[in-house]
Parts: sequence; structure tokens; C-alpha cells
Amino acid sequence: MREGTVLVTGGAGYIGSHAVLALLDAGWQVVVVDNLVTGFDWAVDPRAKLVVANIADDDKVRAAIREHGVIAIMHFAGSVVVPESVSDPLKYYRNNTAASRSLIESAVAEGVKHFIFSSTAATYGIPEVVPVREDSPKQPINPYGMSKLMTEIMLKDVAAAHPINYAALRYFNVAGADPQGRSGQSTAGATHLIKIAAEAATGKRGHVSVFGTDFDTPDGTGVRDYIHVSDLAAAHVDALDLLIARPSENHTMNAGYGRGFSVLQVLDAVDRVTNLTIERKLEGRRAGDPDALVADNSAILAALPWRPKHDDLEGIVKDALAWERKLAERQG
Ligand SMILES: NC(=O)c1ccc[n+]([C@@H]2O[C@H](COP(=O)([O-])OP(=O)(O)OC[C@H]3O[C@@H](n4cnc5c(N)ncnc54)[C@H](O)[C@@H]3O)[C@@H](O)[C@H]2O)c1
Repeated sequence: MREGTVLVTGGAGYIGSHAVLALLDAGWQVVVVDNLVTGFDWAVDPRAKLVVANIADDDKVRAAIREHGVIAIMHFAGSVVVPESVSDPLKYYRNNTAASRSLIESAVAEGVKHFIFSSTAATYGIPEVVPVREDSPKQPINPYGMSKLMTEIMLKDVAAAHPINYAALRYFNVAGADPQGRSGQSTAGATHLIKIAAEAATGKRGHVSVFGTDFDTPDGTGVRDYIHVSDLAAAHVDALDLLIARPSENHTMNAGYGRGFSVLQVLDAVDRVTNLTIERKLEGRRAGDPDALVADNSAILAALPWRPKHDDLEGIVKDALAWERKLAERQG
């Protein structure tokens, strides 16, 4: 058992529930704060304590920190649908930026020492150079990316002023599910390619749309860096160890594998794994989709002992499919 408790916001959601598993497996005690707006109480491992609350509810968050002796916060809670952020920007500035501000204030007020934040490759916008490095220009092209960048900026200023250090992990495309089948992506109305393909493979939808076939990539479809959610969760546990070992340091790191697959390569992998031919509908580009978005991951590899264990596209697809089948049974 490790000393102290980690508070995981959004721990009932997709990535947060995997971080909860990784923390518990590493011997941490965990308390989850989640308002279940897109998460599920059953997604929280029963070894963790679940507090159903908004992260902006200062009284409840501060009480949870005090009651559980929280030494670190991993902050996954937020709104995550990019097109929705374009049509309803104030929702994103409220639930991502303003709610994060409240949470950080609670953390500082209660003397929490370490903070790990779910940031995103969307902070880069359309990168000029790929693989993209952390010091590349940050020019988000939607309110989602901007709402996350603003939180990164708050953390930087707060860590300079108060005894708290932080790591911001900029995730690339998160995919897959716990290889032991304990969690996966369960939210309805998914917008992630591998999740959508898994839904098509299990009969939940008829086809997969391919948005854009004229990108500047080898096969004309968009290239993305897909990282297995369990590898991402493991990176958070290592990042926490780093923050504890080096309290004067802060780290902003890309979380990706440093290689990309096109939409068609992903769909080919799904067809191979399932022995199906999933229908593809070729459609026009969506506004603001870059040709390629791939991480330069040298910073995270240098800073952490973390090494990917699931860097295998077919393996990611298999885990996503296994979870989708389990979810279909649960939903009847
Ligand atoms: N999925 C990706 O590919 C990806 C990529 C980059 C960054 N991220 C970031 O990772 C984090 C987790 O994303 P996810 O894909 O697991 O999404 P998710 O919707 O599955 O999880 C978000 C969780 O936060 C909870 N939540 C939302 N607002 C809350 C609030 N105000 N108070 C308390 N709980 C709240 C939801 O109920 C849910 O359980 C997000 O911050 C997202 O921006 C995700």
C-alpha cells in the first residue's frame, strides 16, 4: 500500500476508470469525484471510493480531499466532444476551464502536493511539423483545445506561486480497453474511430464514415497516433512517481507512440481482426481536421521509466472489440 490517497476526477469515465485500475494495481488508495454526466458508477472499481459530485463543488471536493488524506489529484473530468465545443463554447469554458480553476483552487487550499492533468494534442491545432514536439506552437482551432490550453496555463502559474507541482499529459488518440476486460469505452455517441469501428463490427451501427480522402498522407485519409488506454493509464502512475520524487519539477509531455496509422489502415486492421468487411462510407473532410497528428514522444520516454506495452494496432482493436461485446451483453 502506498502512503496517501490519489483523487481521480472523471474516474467513472473512459480514461479515468483505467487510471483508477492502474493506481489500485500499483498499491494506491483512490477516491473518485465524478458527477456521472458521461461516466458510469459501475465503471469505478469497487476498491475505490466514489463521491458523486461536480469538481466545481468546492465544499464536496475539499471535504473529500481532507477526509481521504489526498496527496495528489489526477484530473480527467471534462467535456470531450470537439464539434460540440464549436457549437457550445461556453459549456467547454465552464466545464473544462472554469471547473478546473475551482478544482485547482481546492487543491491549493487543502495543500495537495501534486496534480496531473489530461491535456490533449488539440492544444497544437494544425501542427506545421509532424511528429509534433511539446514546444511546437500552441494554436488550438476549437474551443475544446483552447479550454484545455487555458488549464495548462493556469497550472503553470499556480505551480510557480504555490507548493504544488504538476504534469500535463497531452494525449493523442486514445483507444482500446483494459486487456483484462475490467473497463473500456462505454459512452454512447462515440466520435473515436476505433470505438465506432467496434460498434460497426458488433452490429450497433451499419457503417463507418471516412471523413476526407484527399489529405496529404500516403492513402489520402487522416493519420493519427493511437495509444492504448492502459499504456496511457500506466504513464500517469509513473508521472505521479516523478512528481513525488522531484517536487520542484513540472512536466508537459506528449502521450503517444510516435507513429501514425491512417483511417483506412485502422479499418483494414478491424477487418482482419473480425474477419468482416465493415462498410466504409467515403465522405468529405470535416472542418479543422489536420492531415496527420503524431506525437514526438521523446520527452515522456526521457522523463519516465514508462515504456508502451500495447503498441500494436491489432491488439488495440482486439481489446476494443472485446469490450464492445461485453458492453452489448450488459446493455442486453
Ligand atoms: N479520449 C481521448 O482520445 C482524449 C484525448 C485527449 C484528451 N482527453 C481528455 O481525457 C479526459 C477523459 O476523457 P474520456 O475520453 O475518458 O471522457 P469521458 O467522458 O469518458 O470521461 C469524463 C468523465 O468526467 C466526468 N465529468 C465531466 N464533467 C464533470 C464535472 N464537472 N465534475 C465531475 N465529473 C465530471 C464524466 O461523468 C466522465 O465520467 C478528458 O479531460 C479529455 O479531455 C481524451
